[in-house]
Amino acid sequence: MKKITLNNDFYLPMPVTLVGMKVKGKPNFCAVGWITRVNYKPAMIAVALYKTHYSPAGIKENKTFSICIPGADLVKQADYCGIASGKRADKSKLFTIFYGKTKTAPMIKECPINIECKLYKTVDLPDDYLFIGKVISIYADRKYLTNGKVDYKKINSFIYTIPEGIYSKLGKKIGDAYSIGRTLGKKQ
Ligand SMILES: Cc1cc2nc3c(=O)[nH]c(=O)nc-3n(C[C@H](O)[C@H](O)[C@H](O)COP(=O)(O)O)c2cc1C
Repeated sequence: MKKITLNNDFYLPMPVTLVGMKVKGKPNFCAVGWITRVNYKPAMIAVALYKTHYSPAGIKENKTFSICIPGADLVKQADYCGIASGKRADKSKLFTIFYGKTKTAPMIKECPINIECKLYKTVDLPDDYLFIGKVISIYADRKYLTNGKVDYKKINSFIYTIPEGIYSKLGKKIGDAYSIGRTLGKKQ
């Protein structure tokens, strides 16, 4: 069957995270979907932020940021952090804030998982800064773990999809990773 071509303005399904940083001495949180792990050891995570947002200046100033993973119970607050700008709104009032080793990366107590990062590198892209952070510490509530490991079912985390523009819960299991493919042959 012949394929049709689509508009290049295309988005993969995105995890919904809240990235925290101090801007001018005050905590700020930004909803972020453009985020991914980018290095194995040490663990590094990259976050793409639009240059004109309020948040980038804070990351550049303190060289730290946090990544907080909200559960579905925080969908309204997470969405608000993607609507309101720290330029005019105090988004820190929505949450109970704590700090870890870096002292300058604000984290959200109500989020089941919190990751604090030190800025490793900033890539200057045409519209966005790609902030690559080295993971310093990860904090979790025990109740969201199974056998000591993060359990996304318990966390009830959600994704954001475009073009629908909706939030959805994670889907049902369809197979075991690094395993189901072995039915097609051995690792080589
Ligand atoms: C679900 C969701 C995901 C978003 N992902 C990003 C993102 O990855 N990068 C980005 O620059 N803006 C993203 N935004 C937009 C910012 O969160 C939004 O413009 C925010 O108000 C910026 O806050 P600030 O000005 O306080 O930095 C997203 C918004 C939503 C609702």
